[in-house]
Amino acid sequence: MSERGIAGKRLIIRSYSEKAPNYTTFVDTHPGFRELREKIKGMLSPSSGARVLDLGAGTCHHGLSFSTHGCEVLCLDISKEMLKTAQQKAADVHVIVGDIEKLPIKDKSVDVAICVNALRYVDAKVFIEETKRVLKPGGEMLLVDGDKDRVRAARLNKTIKKHELERMFLEKGLARVYSCEELKDLLESHGCLVEATEHFRIYFLLKASV
Ligand SMILES: C[S@@+](CC[C@H](N)C(=O)[O-])C[C@H]1O[C@@H](n2cnc3c(N)ncnc32)[C@H](O)[C@@H]1O
Repeated sequence: MSERGIAGKRLIIRSYSEKAPNYTTFVDTHPGFRELREKIKGMLSPSSGARVLDLGAGTCHHGLSFSTHGCEVLCLDISKEMLKTAQQKAADVHVIVGDIEKLPIKDKSVDVAICVNALRYVDAKVFIEETKRVLKPGGEMLLVDGDKDRVRAARLNKTIKKHELERMFLEKGLARVYSCEELKDLLESHGCLVEATEHFRIYFLLKASV
């Protein structure tokens, strides 16, 4: 990885680690995020005992919503501090400090992978290759992030830029906004089957299987 790439990841880790103590209260109580959690749960139905991997999990509020389904939940994040909160919320959750672009996870060992608002920090092609590698045959992935087309149409660049961290990452070229269509094409060119797409506010929700 280039020096710039390493420095960028360090900045992401530092920024989210500083944010960690207040992050969980924000996402757990924000009505929009509560609704998004319900939408995500509605698009997936892992069977009891399934292994669910939350990528760029932060404090893992999305991944943990599947623990009530009897799933084994693995939360992976590049920031150890964000994961500390996940561990405090649920002692039995497996937390893994790691990079989405180089997953420290065995091939074909995961049933469902979700990634909510973290795809923007990584190369989507590398993300798909790594996620495909760890998913079992027939496994599913659900990708959620701001949709470039909606962000533009609603002039929500303004909204993103209102958030100090997002603004900084965008300005430094450490985050990007993908469109749902771009990702759909990329998933299909990697042999994934796109099963469903939904939209919620500025976000796309894209479900694919391998
Ligand atoms: C906007 S937060 C989203 C957290 C959580 N998914 C949610 O929806 O609340 C982005 C998260 O991605 C993590 N992240 C950024 N780059 C990453 C990478 N390369 N590998 C793993 N995690 C990463 C950050 O540390 C942060 O916790």
